[in-house]
Amino acid sequence: MSAYPPLLFLRKFLREGTRVASVAPSSRSLGRAMSSQIDPHRPQTIVELGAGSGAVTRIAAARMHPQSRLIAVEVDPEFHRVLAADVPAAEAVLADVRELPAQLAARGVQQVDLVLDCLPTPSLPRAINAAVFDWLASLAPTPAFSQMTVMPWVYRPLYRRLFRRVEFELVLANMPPGGAYHCTGLQPDWQRHLPGR
Ligand SMILES: C[S@@+](CC[C@H](N)C(=O)[O-])C[C@H]1O[C@@H](n2cnc3c(N)ncnc32)[C@H](O)[C@@H]1O
Repeated sequence: MSAYPPLLFLRKFLREGTRVASVAPSSRSLGRAMSSQIDPHRPQTIVELGAGSGAVTRIAAARMHPQSRLIAVEVDPEFHRVLAADVPAAEAVLADVRELPAQLAARGVQQVDLVLDCLPTPSLPRAINAAVFDWLASLAPTPAFSQMTVMPWVYRPLYRRLFRRVEFELVLANMPPGGAYHCTGLQPDWQRHLPGR
């Protein structure tokens, strides 16, 4: 049985709207779109940002190669508790994404193949987005990057300014409809285009 308490997302949304940015966990369809760039045939290191109660994490864990690592970062202790209980195949990390370099170093992670970004990037403070992208830019080679959205196509111009190649996977079976931007190759001038308050 899931450790998810009824209406947890709604309660969090009412208290911390811009940080949570959703009244319910993502649907399985959105989880599948966010996990579509995972290669089930080879071990990978995957880092999920803003894992919440694990809606994407559990689908990513089911798709990944058995020797892959999935490090799921979540700042909210209540979400983290559910995540850790419900998705034991992932390494649930209770931390702010601003601590990513230290948290990953502590776990011996030197290379990352894929980032699953479930953060509400456009509504977050610029300092948080800068920390995420500074970390991304510090990795060699730059990992592939899938970004969740519940505003289909709206932020496509933004992600095209940040990345060289961007493909959008539409998900109608989500409330509201959403999708995933699958991105590779940071643009050289990504710093000029970072969103945030
Ligand atoms: C839109 S929800 C997505 C949750 C889950 N991945 C899903 O799809 O149902 C965004 C999540 O990002 C988390 N978050 C926001 N800011 C964060 C930060 N600075 N560090 C880590 N997690 C953060 C929120 O607590 C929330 O769980």
